[in-house]
Amino acid sequence: MEMKRLQKYIAECGVASRRKAEELIFQGRVKVNGSVVREMGIKVCEGDLVEVNGEIIKPENSKVYILLNKPSGYVTTAKDQFRRPTVLDLLKGVQERVFPVGRLDYETMGLLILTNDGDFTHKMTHPKHEIEKTYLATIAGIPTKEEIIRFERGLEIEDYTTAPAKLKIINTKQNACEVEVTIHEGKNRQVRKMCEAIGHPVLSLKRVSLGKLSLGNLAEGEWRELTKEEVKMLVKKANSF
Ligand code: URA
Repeated sequence: MEMKRLQKYIAECGVASRRKAEELIFQGRVKVNGSVVREMGIKVCEGDLVEVNGEIIKPENSKVYILLNKPSGYVTTAKDQFRRPTVLDLLKGVQERVFPVGRLDYETMGLLILTNDGDFTHKMTHPKHEIEKTYLATIAGIPTKEEIIRFERGLEIEDYTTAPAKLKIINTKQNACEVEVTIHEGKNRQVRKMCEAIGHPVLSLKRVSLGKLSLGNLAEGEWRELTKEEVKMLVKKANSF
């Protein structure tokens, strides 16, 4: 956001007209970054925290894009019939009403985007331009070459055949192994069903990247806003399909 006069910013937040905003400023009811501001000329920009009557305000059209490292044990819906914790419970400090972009199972961990931008959500989740998603999974046993080929070529699951995917063994243990799985689709419990279909059920699952966006060192349960460049990059990728 470019620098804007405070009264214009307040008006754009839908709080008051510009004229009324000037009155609010004059009356000492406006704070910028925690300090009362009474000068009319002051300008604000992105990142400045503006409060009116003690409430943080944001432009009505401000879009937010949150990257959350989802822990296991949270549902990806706004409400749960069993009253389990939801990912929204983890977004302390986010003022906007955001919604998850796609979903991760209750037990699945890792990269989840939440936003109030419906167009963005539509682009990211539309089957026509689903961006590749990479998961780290621990699976039971160790798949053979033939099983990996079947997994990668496409599997019959319920009423559909999966699109080409990737499976790479990263690490082997005694009765299990760690694999990296990349898919371009987002069907319900797809990775779990695909692993099950080759006889190697998932023991744990974490999404680590979406296109070129990765979790990085974001701690479990923590969130951060995506940068403009990251949002642009995702939109560009989705538009390229
Ligand atoms: N595939 C799954 O099986 N579960 C998820 O949560 C995401 C992808």
